[in-house]
Amino acid sequence: MIIAIDGPAASGKGTLSKRIAAELGLAHLDTGSLYRAVGVAVLRAGKDPADAAVAAQVARALRPEDGILADPELRSDEAAQAASKVAVVPEVRSALLDFQRTFAAVPPAGAPGAVLDGRDIGTVVCPDAAAKLFVTASVEVRAERRLKELRERGIPAIPSDVLEDMKARDARDSQRAVAPLKPADDAFVLDTSAMNPEQAFAAALAYIGSKTGLGPKR
Ligand code: DC
Repeated sequence: MIIAIDGPAASGKGTLSKRIAAELGLAHLDTGSLYRAVGVAVLRAGKDPADAAVAAQVARALRPEDGILADPELRSDEAAQAASKVAVVPEVRSALLDFQRTFAAVPPAGAPGAVLDGRDIGTVVCPDAAAKLFVTASVEVRAERRLKELRERGIPAIPSDVLEDMKARDARDSQRAVAPLKPADDAFVLDTSAMNPEQAFAAALAYIGSKTGLGPKR
């Protein structure tokens, strides 16, 4: 049982995916953390994330099962920008494909299925997923959410910079040639611009239930 959840940066898909996985007793993989791990490793090596040859080499050497995905540095804005740069490289994407598909096919700890969230899960990684959600919100709403999150973490941020960064990442993610960010033809598009997290969660669960018959594990 595979559930694909895609969407742009700060759409709330990460939080939503974690909650859905916990509610339904499924494993969860945040596939963005794989690209972030590659971006951070390139930066740590003192190289440029836009250097395709270096990024591809780092991606091929990545061993996600070794705990690197839990590194807090992966959550930084530098990591996000670097991730979005390495993610345009086709060799990086293909190097990370096996790990994602194996996780989906054989979820860890004997879980009966998996929730994968990212940009291309419903279109490329798991096109046969039982349920596909595309979680989105207007770029202004997403920038506002991101600003709030940064301020809560005590990180100073300028609203216009956050909005510009968000637009730059959207453009890079949706305009790249390989596996661009877009809803699968058979995805359920959930626009959360005017929803709170509870409403988004309820709408997502209702859709997944209608596609799979899965309900809360109680
Ligand atoms: O979901 P995130 O913000 O952690 O993702 C970071 C970057 O990784 C994002 O800008 C694009 C890339 N990414 C991707 O290309 N494909 C995925 N399945 C997940 C993330």
